[in-house]
Amino acid sequence: MINISELSLNFSGEPLFKDVNLKFTEGNCYGVIGANGAGKSTFLRILSGDLDASTGTVSIKPNTRMSVLKQDHFAFNEETVLNTVLGGNPRLLEVMHEKDALYTKEDFTEEDGNRAAELEAEFAEMGGWDAETEASQLLNGLGLDADAILYTEMKNLGDVEKVKVLLARALFGKPDILLLDEPTNHLDIQAVRWLEDFLADFEGTVLVVSHDRHFLNNVCTHIVDIDFGKIKLYVGNYEFWYESSQLVQRMIKDQNRKNEEKIKELQNFIQRFAANKSKSRQATSRRKLIDKLTVEEMPASSRRYPWVAFQQDREAGKDILEVRGISKTIDGEKVLDNVSFIVRRGDKIAFISDNELAMTTLFQILMGEIKPDEGSFKWGVTTSQSYFPKDNNEFFEGHKENMLDWIAPYSQTDTLESTLRGFLGRMLFSGDDVYKPVRVLSGGEKVRLMLARMMLFGSNVLVIDQPTNHLDLESITAVNNGVRDFKGTVLFASHDHEFVQTIATRIIEIRGTGVLDKECTYDEFLEFRETYQG
Ligand SMILES: Nc1ncnc2c1ncn2[C@@H]1O[C@H](COP(=O)(O)OP(=O)(O)O)[C@@H](O)[C@H]1O
Ligand SMILES: [Mg+2]
Repeated sequence: MINISELSLNFSGEPLFKDVNLKFTEGNCYGVIGANGAGKSTFLRILSGDLDASTGTVSIKPNTRMSVLKQDHFAFNEETVLNTVLGGNPRLLEVMHEKDALYTKEDFTEEDGNRAAELEAEFAEMGGWDAETEASQLLNGLGLDADAILYTEMKNLGDVEKVKVLLARALFGKPDILLLDEPTNHLDIQAVRWLEDFLADFEGTVLVVSHDRHFLNNVCTHIVDIDFGKIKLYVGNYEFWYESSQLVQRMIKDQNRKNEEKIKELQNFIQRFAANKSKSRQATSRRKLIDKLTVEEMPASSRRYPWVAFQQDREAGKDILEVRGISKTIDGEKVLDNVSFIVRRGDKIAFISDNELAMTTLFQILMGEIKPDEGSFKWGVTTSQSYFPKDNNEFFEGHKENMLDWIAPYSQTDTLESTLRGFLGRMLFSGDDVYKPVRVLSGGEKVRLMLARMMLFGSNVLVIDQPTNHLDLESITAVNNGVRDFKGTVLFASHDHEFVQTIATRIIEIRGTGVLDKECTYDEFLEFRETYQG
């Protein structure tokens, strides 16, 4: 369906990628991964015809409909929600506009009448009469209240709502090819699940850039890896790609063992993996892979994983935190209403809510940044907390110092520069990097620096608000493993399903009033929640 041959792209002389030869076919979903700046968005722009490649060709079967969700979500600000969605089928919107223009003419001629009849026929043919209903269904499916917002202008929507509308637009055109650039970034977990289901049933070709491992695992039949100027295709989902690339890394390092032994180990792994997974489409692809796989063909990645580990300087006593009846209203909206819970040592609690502001507000209260309207809380005397705020702006804005000077005050006075460099190095800042002024850092770099700061504290309680925003997959995996292995207590909120599922031992859902508090994994909680009435 999409055939790419000898594709290369240079921005200002340096090739971003070259010698790309790939084929994307119907019924498959390709997860596009790669570090920040690797060229994922650029690659999608070439496929959509938005950008010309330096050499090579992209050929797509004629009469193929393609929809694109771009990474920047600020287009169409002046349009209504309805027109934005309908714009997913540009011809339909054109016909509607032309019809409207004709009907408002004062001197409606016979010729106009004929034209109008033509347009009406085309409109009906395209399913124009159901268009509004269909648009509403898509919006409702994504968790929006279509009736309330259809005629609202895009600029009046929040970021999350905008992404959902743009996604509905991309899906509305019933495309054969769907290109989605980081669709899950601003979506809540329910909307991500809806999208997963949608894509699972989608019969065309999907290319999707995402940093959400659970999403990639659920929807992808293939992984497209952009790394060091090459774009390579692997069969299987992200977990499979990750595990097998890790395994191959170990094998390459371990020179002593016989080659055949390594291949056998790999094949055993693949067999186990294929047997574990229920999705038959993916399992079949994997079985095919076993037949032709050789060690050289597996992803020998040049990626570097930051190393995240939180050590407690001293363990906390029995009392960690008691929260009693906290309520808080922000901008006229009651985001916390009578929230109570007791935290025990070693709890790893994921807070969830339909309203992300509820978690952020709770954490800000617990960290003493704002005061509750009602209620109280008490930290155990032996606890020490490190806080990872969702918005880290105040830590960087107006700061002139470099990384090393920025982080120094957060450590004990006698901490050696080499120790600080060690903490920065684990987060992949090395050599002269540490002299970069902090205000020029990218979103992902700032987050890594905040994590280095947290590791330095040696606290026994971590309070973490949306740590995976802005991070690439390697960093997300590193933070995920670091928090999972931490021996202390963790209170956190995250959009990343895998993160919540692998870390949380207890889930607290903040509800309209009060909380729903259960000791279980996230998937168990979701299952329970499907049937829970309350
Ligand atoms: N028009 C352009 N001119 C020069 N460089 C660009 C242009 N667009 C993107 N780049 C650079 O190309 C690289 C890849 O960008 P992008 O595709 O957005 O990365 P990704 O989506 O993988 O994070 C980045 O280093 C970016 O700065
Ligand atoms: Mg991008």
